[in-house]
Amino acid sequence: MDGNGRWAKQKGGLRIFGHQNAITAVRETVESAAELGVKFLTLYAFSTENWNRPKHEVMALMQLLVHTIRQETPTLLKNNIRLQAIGQIDSLPASCQQELAEAIALTKAGAGMTLVLALSYSGRWDLTQAAQRMATDIAAGKLRPEAVNEQTIEQYLATAGMPDPELLIRTSGEQRISNFLLWQLAYTELYITDLLWPDFRREHFYDAIQAYQRRERRFGKTSEQLTVS
Ligand code: IPE
Ligand code: MG
Repeated sequence: MDGNGRWAKQKGGLRIFGHQNAITAVRETVESAAELGVKFLTLYAFSTENWNRPKHEVMALMQLLVHTIRQETPTLLKNNIRLQAIGQIDSLPASCQQELAEAIALTKAGAGMTLVLALSYSGRWDLTQAAQRMATDIAAGKLRPEAVNEQTIEQYLATAGMPDPELLIRTSGEQRISNFLLWQLAYTELYITDLLWPDFRREHFYDAIQAYQRRERRFGKTSEQLTVS
């Protein structure tokens, strides 16, 4: 979800004005994904590197997070959506952790869609924490080094139990991954739009889905192999 700051600047406002105006985009995207039958939607809300922003912006983002989770939980319940979080959750302010834990507990029966918030998340952090936990289990004799394969690594990632993303949507025209789900994005289709995140609406989400439907996912195979059953 990129482009909040630029959106605010275009309107002559402060960066936080852009963040405040991003909530409608979040709501419309979550609702339309759930309606279309998407099973997992992950929102990259705050990266490990975002901690390096000016302190007042970080604080405003955290307050907005608490406020939004509280405000949107009834809508999640109504739409049968389960909330989850990935990232260094223990680095968030206590109020955020508490709000998040409550919303996760309240929505845990939501079987329609899983909404994953990536908070204080980065792909390198994820791979590092997975390596650390794997090494701990190896040292404790719970895991054999020869037994480590791709599935093992997946089980130690923060996304354990979640499928790899089929589609990545990035707003604001930037053509980079920015330390998102590095391992998990191996074969994900990338969709980049110049729209700034606060302007992103339901119809733009549909555009992305339609573009995805026109892609041919070969996973290293040839086009001919895909049509022969
Ligand atoms: C995305 O918008 C929101 C967060 C990273 C929290 P930005 O704040 O990155 O907006 P730009 O990139 O400055 O326009
Ligand atoms: Mg940005």
